[in-house]
Amino acid sequence: MQAKRILLVIGGGVAAYKTLELIRRLREQGARVRAVLTAAGKQFVTPLSVASLAGSPVFDDLFSLTDETEIGHIQISREADLVVVAPATADLLAKMAQGHADDLASTLLLATDKKILVAPAMNLRMWLHPATRRNVALLRGDGVIFVGPEEGDMACGEYGPGRMSEPAAILAAIDAALRGDTTIPLPGGVLGLAGRRVVVTSGPTHEPIDPVRYLGNRSSGKQGHAIAAAAARAGAEVVLVSGPVELQDPPGVATRHVSTAAEMLAAVEAALPADIFIAAAAVSDWRVGEIAAQKLKKGGAPTALPLVENPDILALLAQRQEARPRLVVGFAAETENLLDNAQAKLARKNCDVIVANDVGDKAAGVMGEEENQVTIVTRGGTQTWPRLRKEHVALKLIAYLSKLLEGRGDA
Ligand code: C5P
Repeated sequence: MQAKRILLVIGGGVAAYKTLELIRRLREQGARVRAVLTAAGKQFVTPLSVASLAGSPVFDDLFSLTDETEIGHIQISREADLVVVAPATADLLAKMAQGHADDLASTLLLATDKKILVAPAMNLRMWLHPATRRNVALLRGDGVIFVGPEEGDMACGEYGPGRMSEPAAILAAIDAALRGDTTIPLPGGVLGLAGRRVVVTSGPTHEPIDPVRYLGNRSSGKQGHAIAAAAARAGAEVVLVSGPVELQDPPGVATRHVSTAAEMLAAVEAALPADIFIAAAAVSDWRVGEIAAQKLKKGGAPTALPLVENPDILALLAQRQEARPRLVVGFAAETENLLDNAQAKLARKNCDVIVANDVGDKAAGVMGEEENQVTIVTRGGTQTWPRLRKEHVALKLIAYLSKLLEGRGDA
């Protein structure tokens, strides 16, 4: 928890007194706490006691923040590593579920790009009310993390679910949340590829040896398919040229099924023009020079299988004089000198972006896996992203490329 930044929203409930203890424990563990009090929260704990424990000023007024120039609500909401709402009242949950932004707390909760952890606290009938059930389901669907509430005696004299979890339990949930990636990927629809055409290759190619055998590789197509899906969610018209994979065609994407590198190249060329071309396929570098017309018989094993080089689809697209896509993106799975090799590939193939991953001696560990850890290499520099699910890498890559396309720099 050392040096982690927690943005703590304190809602209006009796349980707010436990939040003071939570602040003390967070700071004991080295976290930095910035606190925001709602108007109702101020009825239960004072700004002075919160500020003294947090060791920093308390924020409570949206308009005094937007007036001044030093720090704004967007900045506050983004500077945190995690946003915690404790106590999260029924009203705060309802505002979050509906996307209200009529005070500082709700505005921060809507503006943040970080995960939100909530510790609900309310009367049991409020917690069990169908409206709250709906809101909780919506928020869970949005990726909001819940801790509690617990069952027990309530301040109002009733017994049941609705008590805010104890500080130790909230602390443990915060610790667990901080261990994962806490950035919320941007939802696709707002990524701004509306009106753009994107062509993506994905999966392996199969190069026939005879009518039943082929040369191939272990590529699953998961990353390329996720990229095509993310581009479609961002509003682009997407053509996915897929080698043989065991995946569903992504929704909203025109998928062309091919088998060999030559077919893949033809399908890519037929899909032009495009604003962005992303070569995520693991194209076989070679094919068999002469494909046997009949299945090779056991007895007559060929002593050699002469291979010829396949076209480099990425390089051909990047080096086109006519109808070159504005952004050409390649992948590089390297086992050594990752960045040097990626830079060299960028220059040699004339592409704009290389998505590089260091597969070390475990290439098969990336192919087919659910997660990927990549470094983005451009002529302007490099940036390394954390290990993320392939869908998340895809969303981040599409957000990055849409900014690049708009000329908004190196994202
Ligand atoms: O040169 P290397 O095979 O390492 O480059 C990998 C990149 O080039 C990937 O983006 C891959 O999709 C693309 N490629 C291609 N056609 C080939 C070989 C690789 O499009 N024949």
